[in-house]
Amino acid sequence: MRAVDVIVKKRDGGILTDEEIRFIVDGYVDGSIPDYQMSAFLMAVYFRGMNFEESSVLTRAMIDSGDTYDLSSLKGPLVDKHSTGGVGDKVSLILAPIAASCGIKVPMMSGRGLGHTGGTLDKLESIPGYTTRLTDAEFIKGLDEVGYCMIGQSERVVPADRKMYALRDVTGTVESIPLITASILSKKFAEGAQALVFDVKCGSGAFMKTIEDAKELAGSLVKTGNELGKRVIAVISDMNNPLGRMVGNFLEVKEAIDCLKGNGPEDLMSLTVRLTGWMLVAGGITPDIEKAEALCREKIVNGAALEKLKENVRYQHGNVEVIANPELGPKAKVLKKISSDKSGFVSKIDAYKVGLASVVLGAGRAKKEDNVLPGVGIELKKKVGERVAEGETLFILHGDDESSIEEARDLVLSAYSFTEGKVPGKGIILKEIVS
Ligand code: URA
Repeated sequence: MRAVDVIVKKRDGGILTDEEIRFIVDGYVDGSIPDYQMSAFLMAVYFRGMNFEESSVLTRAMIDSGDTYDLSSLKGPLVDKHSTGGVGDKVSLILAPIAASCGIKVPMMSGRGLGHTGGTLDKLESIPGYTTRLTDAEFIKGLDEVGYCMIGQSERVVPADRKMYALRDVTGTVESIPLITASILSKKFAEGAQALVFDVKCGSGAFMKTIEDAKELAGSLVKTGNELGKRVIAVISDMNNPLGRMVGNFLEVKEAIDCLKGNGPEDLMSLTVRLTGWMLVAGGITPDIEKAEALCREKIVNGAALEKLKENVRYQHGNVEVIANPELGPKAKVLKKISSDKSGFVSKIDAYKVGLASVVLGAGRAKKEDNVLPGVGIELKKKVGERVAEGETLFILHGDDESSIEEARDLVLSAYSFTEGKVPGKGIILKEIVS
């Protein structure tokens, strides 16, 4: 077989065989297919697409390029959740302890923040002492004893994706539904999940800006996952406005703790409980979503989910005192309250601009190698739908220096829009695809 023939076949709109797809992936990983041929192949897929059988073969070939976790010794359904990334998205921090307290095993491998979106690993590491670097044995033991573990992606898992993603990034081929699908599913299934729940974010703060694109990605994740014999459920959620009130690493941990104490903001709570509920359904713990949501809420009310968070923090070497008393956690040097010069109702807070402001303050990364500041961020005192009077505090900036605070202030102020009357809310969940 020759790479050029496979490239030409896809360029001309052909359907590739299992052998052809595996030949390309294996050849790229072992170095026999050079970057220029892989680039041409990726561009052909970008323009011609792939059907669900082709994407599932691509996913499988990518999984087979590296190690997979064998979690078969664990008792209990293995279900994970993946979000396509947003602003103020601390759902994983709340969902994992709730799901684990309901009997799900959650093998969660997360990423770091890049661009305007935050990353779960950065949020967790803002808890003093917390480590996301566990050995394979520690990861499996934590899943067994605590019910969930949160780690970074191992270098040995899906090496094909690391190589292909780096190439896609510089060849204009990131925005391809089959390539995104295979990239995400390969990593999630290699980590050992038996079923997956996706939170596909849609709006200004998300990767998918329109509902049409979000539906296409959600449909592709579900159908390709099904082709691989896995149960996959996708929820499309609104990411035009930041999720919850806090944006920034430890500020988001604090808000997650509030949620587990039953005091979380409505948008964040309803999305978290829904996603966790679907994990319980996918894992066979409850027969339907209504019972699942009720069980999740019960675990919050009876304190079991908060206890689970403490167990996990202790297991991953974090300071549990900080969970009991978040005031002991990292803090920014300067707090600046910004008040409104308008009266009315908040009609929109552009998530993209708020995400950029958090990067300016140091909560996120402009480049992959940057360090993040654990205590800085934005506290939104007024959310969409809330009334604001002139002179009232709109948001508080937590920063380490005056110049970043100035820049962030202008960005967040420009993110706010107001109307005279209250605009009816759309709800956080836009669509669900249940397989
Ligand atoms: N996230 C991934 O992991 N892969 C993609 O291709 C896009 C987003």
